[in-house]
Amino acid sequence: MRVRVCINGFGTIGKRIADAISRQPDMEVVGVSKTRPNYEAFVAIRRGFKLYVPKDKILEFENLGIKVAGTIEDMVSSSDVVIDATPAGTGAKYKDLYKSLGKPAIFQGGEKADVADVSFNTLCNYDKALGKRYVRVVSCNTTALLRVIGSLKRYFRIRKIFAVIVRRGADPKEIKRGPINAIVLDPPKVPSHHAIDVKTVLPDLDITTVAVAVPTTLMHTHIVRIEFEEPLSRSDVVRVLEKSPRIILVNSDRYGIRSTAELAEIARDMSRSRYDIPELVIWEDSITVTGSELILVQSVHQESIVIPENVDAVRAITRLTDNPEECMRITDENLGIKRWWI
Ligand SMILES: NC(=O)c1ccc[n+]([C@@H]2O[C@H](COP(=O)([O-])OP(=O)(O)OC[C@H]3O[C@@H](n4cnc5c(N)ncnc54)[C@H](OP(=O)(O)O)[C@@H]3O)[C@@H](O)[C@H]2O)c1
Repeated sequence: MRVRVCINGFGTIGKRIADAISRQPDMEVVGVSKTRPNYEAFVAIRRGFKLYVPKDKILEFENLGIKVAGTIEDMVSSSDVVIDATPAGTGAKYKDLYKSLGKPAIFQGGEKADVADVSFNTLCNYDKALGKRYVRVVSCNTTALLRVIGSLKRYFRIRKIFAVIVRRGADPKEIKRGPINAIVLDPPKVPSHHAIDVKTVLPDLDITTVAVAVPTTLMHTHIVRIEFEEPLSRSDVVRVLEKSPRIILVNSDRYGIRSTAELAEIARDMSRSRYDIPELVIWEDSITVTGSELILVQSVHQESIVIPENVDAVRAITRLTDNPEECMRITDENLGIKRWWI
């Protein structure tokens, strides 16, 4: 029997999760929810999802011709797992509802870590989420850092990490903020919250991050420096990263590209849905090893990078499989991950 999943919140992250869940052979989408009857509600219906809304909003939706399947409580009651993709801070307010209806829930990185029993990244701590009631998939930047750290950590002993995070100013659909005409210290203190968030998954890691926001909406970019316990070779690092799940190496020289704009253009040209790039993109030419120090540059599509981990989190909490490799294989096969690259 397939696991019945509902998605509370059908915005940037929620709509992508709904699509990804509907492509998994062992899961089905019960429905999605919204509170405002705007274009996203029409999109949900046109894409075949049942739409659930707060009880006092049903008439408002129906007066605009948007068919409502029931209340958010109805949606949660008919599901085995809730994925909460409501705006940052709203998920925590829903936790009592999920609890009272006895449903396990997956929260997003905009919630505080204490909303869940465990902060989650498949490569780093799948086993910690097995059978848990509440799991939080960490943010886009944290997921990206954990993908590269988790991959390297399997083969090399890491001593220390420093990363500069160059964040997009806003998501493409946003009209209330950004693109800004500035480089904003985001935040103006060190470490930024990203290092603290990485440590919610890997508490013993020595990591410092600094973050700035810049006037772009397409992707983030990180400059990462990792110090290892022993010297290593560049070719070993490239080999490990090449075979890591959900990481693609892009050779800037070979393809004649050196920007996030061109990455997004390739995704459009390859007919990727919504020009999504859920893989972490590591710029191969940037990989530099000196003794026991590695420096690399990576780019992160903030709107889609956390989607595979949300799918994996469903398998972990329902124990569809206890094996992270098998879980990632099923998720990635059905999302076409790493299969599109030129
Ligand atoms: N965007 C990113 O780059 C990104 C990346 C990684 C993680 N995240 C995290 O993912 C979460 C969602 O972010 P997002 O960017 O997807 O936000 P978003 O685009 O603003 O989408 C939020 C969705 O939730 C709905 N919503 C708002 N209030 C609700 C409520 N009380 N009950 C039910 N639905 C409600 C919204 O529609 P209505 O207003 O119609 O209700 C909208 O569909 C946040 O924790 C964020 O930090 C975001």
